[in-house]
Amino acid sequence: MRKNIVAGNWKMNTTLDEGVELANDINTLLLANKPNCDVIVCVPFTHLTSVHGVIDKEVLGLGAENCSEHEKGAYTGEVSAAMVKSTGAQYVILGHSERRQYFGENNEQLLAKTKLALANGLMPIFCVGEVLEERENGSYNDVVSSQIEALFSLSPEDFGKIIVAYEPVWAIGTGKTATAEQAQDMHAHIRKVIEEKYGKEIADNTSILYGGSCKPSNAKELFAKPDVDGGLIGGAALQADSFMGIIEAFN
Ligand code: 13P
Repeated sequence: MRKNIVAGNWKMNTTLDEGVELANDINTLLLANKPNCDVIVCVPFTHLTSVHGVIDKEVLGLGAENCSEHEKGAYTGEVSAAMVKSTGAQYVILGHSERRQYFGENNEQLLAKTKLALANGLMPIFCVGEVLEERENGSYNDVVSSQIEALFSLSPEDFGKIIVAYEPVWAIGTGKTATAEQAQDMHAHIRKVIEEKYGKEIADNTSILYGGSCKPSNAKELFAKPDVDGGLIGGAALQADSFMGIIEAFN
């Protein structure tokens, strides 16, 4: 059966020292209070190796926030999936709305990134979600379907390794959260789209995380929904206490 997961996305926050301290604090708290879910921190590239050095793999997973769609070569400033893997990371966030919006990442690039992540043994946390206009004009289910369908050339075996994160763009960093009902409806929709392509077993085994102003005060209600298997957390993942408060929603 699918796993419950709480993953932090630190985005472009923390210096190296601050990041190592934060990871260390989270790790210590998790060792003292064994979580009832998998916990992952996704950190800036510059922090991966150092954070890997201070966390215990048994309680805390490690991921990057992106990787290149190219395998290697003359792509100045890019970081490949193989490089991410070589730091000890196990996960990589792909298709975050900030990457789609500010860096113009499209479905074709995201498929290439996903394939390289999988080929290098990384588990993608693949983000989907509609913008406010699409929520308001009612096209949100279709928008999210097409973002998921961008991966439908993957083999069932490969698709089965993907974690999906539904992050309504209008809820990211805005303090506005989707209601638990809106989240549940979309997660059930995503699971149905996966089931139609890959069958019930893979759909039932896919963890679908909610992201968008998730905090200790609303995590329990969101995670109580049958198709919400945890969260991808931005702002509230930057303090060990609030991140732990969200993890404890599974207790
Ligand atoms: P916030 O939790 O800050 O809204 O960010 C969500 C997010 O984008 C996680 O990837």
